[in-house]
Amino acid sequence: MLNRQNFSQKILKWFLDTRQHIAVPGRGDTDPYAVWIAEIMLQQTQVTTVWPYYTRWMKSYPTIADLAQAELDHILKSWEGLGYYSRARNIHKAANFIVDTLDGQLPDSLESLLKIPGIGPYTAAAISSMAFGQVTPLIDGNVLRVMARVGRIDADIAKTKTRRRISDQLGQLILRENPGSFNQGLMDLGRVICTPKNPKCQDCPLCDECEGYQQGDMEAFPVKAKKSQLPHYNIVIGLIMRDNKVLIQKRPPTGLLGGLWEFPGGKIESGEGGEVALLREIKEETNLDVVITRNIGTIQHAYTHFKITLTAWFCEWTSGEALTLAATDTRWISMDQIDTYAFPRANLKVLELL
Ligand code: ADE
Repeated sequence: MLNRQNFSQKILKWFLDTRQHIAVPGRGDTDPYAVWIAEIMLQQTQVTTVWPYYTRWMKSYPTIADLAQAELDHILKSWEGLGYYSRARNIHKAANFIVDTLDGQLPDSLESLLKIPGIGPYTAAAISSMAFGQVTPLIDGNVLRVMARVGRIDADIAKTKTRRRISDQLGQLILRENPGSFNQGLMDLGRVICTPKNPKCQDCPLCDECEGYQQGDMEAFPVKAKKSQLPHYNIVIGLIMRDNKVLIQKRPPTGLLGGLWEFPGGKIESGEGGEVALLREIKEETNLDVVITRNIGTIQHAYTHFKITLTAWFCEWTSGEALTLAATDTRWISMDQIDTYAFPRANLKVLELL
């Protein structure tokens, strides 16, 4: 059984001793808006990747009111390359919700925070503990790893029941006087010391408390059920040129990569050649007739639920007017305007080939 006083004081002390060396976006900021944006960006994204996005974001949209007034296209452009674009769409929706129903202020309680679009248990607990000092434990992948090793928990951490067990335990352990530092210290500890491979146990303040360390098998935890292999698709896209302009289309606002711009194309059906598939997809999506002129190259990309191999071609328009069929908008733009539109990462990788 963990001694609460020992555990939480050790985490706090370690956090206070190390925090000047560990820079995390939003850290030290008591503006709930800054904490909210940083924490959403940090989900599924590395700290070093988030920094430039976070800094630019706070300059572009210094307040929730600025964000609510911004165009979604502008917001998606600011998010371009960070991935999981529903996060950006939800932030925009949430900003409007906060301005319309909450007087433009983020609330301090978990219950009210959870009513805001895109704010789930993790983000709500992060905002309420870090910006408002509320006693709300949180779990993320790093925290789960620390707790699974400290307690040699051999249940699957992907299961809700295991997470609830760890969350209940943290509810007992969290430092009442400084819950925000406790939560951040535990996350930092997981990221910096209690790493998935070769954890730095000799530098860990919890080694006396850690059953995994005592038994010497800490790396066997956490236990995770094996993920099934992601499906793989072959995709073709066309950069269709007409009078020195290229055709782009906007994806529907919801679903995968919603609201982003892309070049027409799609999946190669089984038994179909790439070029045949491209002409078919272009006809289906735009009703244009084109000829394929030059291969641009092939890139690999992994989305959350599948992987793709994407081959891009230059095409030349021959006839027809571009229709907006599956998309929500269609534009012919010059190549130097491309930077002003938000594209999915896989399309950007193709542009990098040019
Ligand atoms: N990971 C995500 N948010 C964090 C924070 N505020 N501190 C440490 N690690 C984090």
